[in-house]
Amino acid sequence: MSPTAAPAPPLAPEIADPRLYLDGIPHERFAQIRAMPGLGWHAYGDNGFWAVTRHADVREVSRNPAVFSSSIGHTNLWDLEADALEARRSLIDTDAPDHTRLRRMVAGAFTPKNIRRWTDTVREITVELLDEFEARGGGDWVELVAAPLPIRVILAMLGVPVADADYLVELSNYLVEGTGDTQSIPPDAFGNTTELRLLPFNSPASHALFEYGEDIRAKRRAEPRDDLVTHLVRAEADGGRISRHEYRHLFHLLVFAGNETTRTAISHGAMALAANRDQWQRVLDDRALVESATEEVIRWATPILHMRRTAASDCELAGTPIAAGDKVVMWYASANRDEAAFADPFRFDAGRADGEHFAFGGGGPHLCLGAFLARLEVSVLLEEMAARRLVLEQLGEPVRAASNFVHGVLSVDMAPAAGSSGGPR
Ligand code: HEM
Repeated sequence: MSPTAAPAPPLAPEIADPRLYLDGIPHERFAQIRAMPGLGWHAYGDNGFWAVTRHADVREVSRNPAVFSSSIGHTNLWDLEADALEARRSLIDTDAPDHTRLRRMVAGAFTPKNIRRWTDTVREITVELLDEFEARGGGDWVELVAAPLPIRVILAMLGVPVADADYLVELSNYLVEGTGDTQSIPPDAFGNTTELRLLPFNSPASHALFEYGEDIRAKRRAEPRDDLVTHLVRAEADGGRISRHEYRHLFHLLVFAGNETTRTAISHGAMALAANRDQWQRVLDDRALVESATEEVIRWATPILHMRRTAASDCELAGTPIAAGDKVVMWYASANRDEAAFADPFRFDAGRADGEHFAFGGGGPHLCLGAFLARLEVSVLLEEMAARRLVLEQLGEPVRAASNFVHGVLSVDMAPAAGSSGGPR
């Protein structure tokens, strides 16, 4: 790593300790790093990483995959041994041409046109969940609305039975634990016999998710349907364009990415709307604001806090020399509050028209595959909340995930505010 060879770079304050995030994103520390000349160096494990915190720099890293590779190292902070890296590799940890081939296999299902076909399904699920939330007079928003909505939608797309949704949410929660310091399940949970270091998120829940994916793959092979798993099985049969390893990991990624992130957006979105009633009132008064409010919810939430790249060659960013092999970590959590990109970035503005948020990544080939789906889910939720004039009141503090990777909310109590008309339509 370059800091020993070059003059000592400015050291970034601690931002990687997962426990810091129990109190929310450490925004003051990120602001300090954004103000540093060049990039800040952050010690981490045996080595360290360059903390890329400014909006413009995150864009540059994202859009230069030849220099900032997703496959050389790993896309999370920690390093993996070579065999573990191979064992855990998925779409997100590949570069072209493998990335292009794999992404093409699923991209068709996630275009705006094809995602719009799911609008009625998303609306039906949303209405059902809001009815239940209101019938109970509120409760844990994560459990009642934020978690079930995205998982049910992605399962419908994959062709997975809705009865298994709770099980898959549970697995997903264990995966998030794997990004923190402690795991609440033993290594042999779910009958796992694989060494944890070879499993995504070091979690036995990954084994369970692989098994589940294999099971549904076998079923769709025997009995094809009009769903995403059948599509992948066909691609596999059709000249082996997708290997068994690639299938297992793609299924895992779609289930995890398809629910954890949007759940987080919906959780923080609810808290933001409860805390900024004037902004929600603007949406109630003018439904044309649903689109900008959706983007603002996603910017505000920034469900994925960072992604890492590894320098493929010596290069320079923001005037800082970077050596081949250095870890370069893009902090979306910081870029989305960068004063240089957004006016008053700490204000939740339902009509925000400035800036391009990087919650889905900073552009480039890995830009979130599910962005249109996530937008659809958040916007339909806002539409349906507005249709019943549901105003939320937050009851107490949220329980947050101890993770520097996802901006997770484990639970947060919400209720229809007094005077909020609410009620099933
Ligand atoms: C608000 C919700 C979501 C957020 C904030 C989010 C965020 C992200 C981010 C930051 C990346 C990495 C971008 C990069 O490295 O440049 C990503 C990639 C990805 N996301 Fe999402 N995501 C969301 C929803 C979804 C959904 C609903 C799916 C559904 C399938 C999904 C599937 C994926 C996949 C497969 C990738 C890897 C793409 C690739 O490497 O080519 N995401 N997402």
